[in-house]
Amino acid sequence: MALPFMSAEEAAKFVHNGDVVGCGGFTPAGAPKDVATAIAKMAEQLHAEGKEFKIDIYTGASTGDSCDGALARAHAINHRTPYQSNKDLRTELNSQNAHYFDMHLSELAQNIRYGFLPKPTVALVEACEVTEDGEIVPTAGVGNMPTFCHMADRIIVELNAAMPATMRGMHDIYEPLDPPLRREIPIYKPSDRIGSDCIKVDPKKIVAVVRTNRPNEVGKFSDLDETTKRIGDNVALFLENEMKAGRIPASFLPIQSGVGNIANAVLGALGENKDIPPFEMYTEVIQDSVVGLMKEGRVKFASGCSLTVGADKLQDIIDHMDFFKDKIVLRPQEISNNPEIARRLGLITINTAIEADIYGNINSTHICGTKMMNGIGGSGDFTRNAYVSIYTTPSTAKDGAISSFVPMVSHVDHSEHSVKIIITEHGIADLRGKSPIERAHEIINKCVDPQYRPMLNEYLAKCKTAHTPHNLDFATAMHREFLKSGDMRNTKFE
Ligand code: COA
Repeated sequence: MALPFMSAEEAAKFVHNGDVVGCGGFTPAGAPKDVATAIAKMAEQLHAEGKEFKIDIYTGASTGDSCDGALARAHAINHRTPYQSNKDLRTELNSQNAHYFDMHLSELAQNIRYGFLPKPTVALVEACEVTEDGEIVPTAGVGNMPTFCHMADRIIVELNAAMPATMRGMHDIYEPLDPPLRREIPIYKPSDRIGSDCIKVDPKKIVAVVRTNRPNEVGKFSDLDETTKRIGDNVALFLENEMKAGRIPASFLPIQSGVGNIANAVLGALGENKDIPPFEMYTEVIQDSVVGLMKEGRVKFASGCSLTVGADKLQDIIDHMDFFKDKIVLRPQEISNNPEIARRLGLITINTAIEADIYGNINSTHICGTKMMNGIGGSGDFTRNAYVSIYTTPSTAKDGAISSFVPMVSHVDHSEHSVKIIITEHGIADLRGKSPIERAHEIINKCVDPQYRPMLNEYLAKCKTAHTPHNLDFATAMHREFLKSGDMRNTKFE
C-alpha cells in the first residue's frame, strides 16, 4: 500500500473537534511541528467562523513552540498532560483556559492503557523513516509514541528530512504487558536492549504522511556561572566522599540528571571533575553537556528518552553516528523513567527544586504554591526510587529577593521521605537518618544563603516544640512578603 503523502494542511483535517491527540517525541526533540501548527491555524479559522474546536493533547513531555505554543495561542487545547514548559501554554493553563494535569511521566502510557484516561484517537508523530508495511522509526525523542500509535485510530506522520534514517538503531522500543500479566522489565544495566528498532503499526491506520525539514526547537542553555559551577563542584564533592566512605561502589553507579539550566550545568561540572570516574547515565533527557562528556570519554553510555540538545550538538551526533550509536539508546518514557529499573540499577538522581523547606520537602512545580511553572516531569519517578536522591538549587532566586528555602513549601512534589540530599552553592545538607529538627539545622547551616539564615532561625524560635515544629501564623510569611513587596528580605514574623 502506497504511503498517503500530503500537505500539513490536508493532514490537519484528519483532526476533529473533541479528538484526543497523542503527540510523539519528548521535549521539543521529536515533537510534531508542521502539522501541529496547521491544526492551530485550522482552529483559529474555525473559531473565526464561530465554530468550536478544542482537542485534548497528550505528549511525552514538553514540545516546541510550533506545537504547544501555536495550539495555546489558538486556544485550541481543552485538556493537556503530562508536562509542558511553553510560556504561552503556561499562561493559558494558569488562567484556566486549558485544563492541565501534571503527572509522573512514567505513568501516562499505562494510565491510558488501563482506561484511566481517554484513549488517543489520533497519533501525531515525527519519524526519520516510515515504511509501507507500517514501520515507524522515531527521531530524537520517543516519549509515549508506541502506546499512542497502538491505541490511536488514525496516525499522522511528519517525515522529517532533518533527521536522517541513519538514526534507526538508536531506539529500543518496548511496551510492557499490563497487570496481572506484567513481568520484570529485563534491563540490568543501562546499555541493555530489550525491544525493537521501530514501532510497528497496522499500515491502514497511517492516514497521512507529511514531508518536513525542520530542526528541533530546543532552546539554548545559559552559560555556566559561578553559582552553578559551585553547585556542580559540591555535587561532585558529595559523590567523591560517598565513594571514599564505601557507600557508592568504586565502579560508580548510573546517574540520572534532571532538566533545565541548573541540571545541565551541574552535570557538566560533575563530568569535568576527575575525582569522579567515567560514568553511565540512565536518565530521561540527554542534555547538551552529555555530548561533550561522551566525546571526552567521561560519559561511557547514556540511556534516555530524548536527545534534548541544541542544533549544533544534534548535528554533531548525526555527523558521527558511528561513534554515538553504540553509546546512546532512546527508550519510551515508561522504560527510561521506570521505577522498577531505577531501584534495580541504583541510580544517583540529581534534580532541581524551585523551593525547599527547612524539613526537606521539595516544590518543583508551583511558584508561590499556585502558578504552574512546568510540571513534576520525571523527577518523582526517579527521586522516590533512587539509590541516593539529590536536589540542587541556587540558594536564592531573583538576585536574592527570593530565598529558595522557606519554613514550609507552598506546594509539595517530593516529600521529606524521599529527599536524601540537598545541595546549593553554599554546601551539602545530608538529611539521611536525621529527625525533622536535625534536618532543619543541617539545611539552614549548610544550604541557606547567609543573609536568610537569621530569618529561618528566628522562625524556628517562634515555633512551639513538636516533632516537626511549625508556627502556622508565620509558615507562609516569606511568600506573603514576596507577593506584597517583591522581596522576602523584608519579612517580619510579627
Ligand atoms: N520562586 C519564584 N521563582 C523562582 C524560584 C522561587 N522559589 N526559584 C526559581 N525561580 C525562577 C527563576 O528565577 C527563573 O526565572 P526566570 O526564568 O524568570 O529567570 C525560573 O524560576 C527558572 O529557574 P532556573 O534557575 O533557570 O531553573 P531551571 O531552568 O534549572 O529549572 C525547574 C528549574 C525546577 C523549573 C526545572 O528543573 C523543572 O521544571 N523541574 C521539574 C521537572 C523535573 O525535575 N524534571 C526532571 C526529571 S528527569
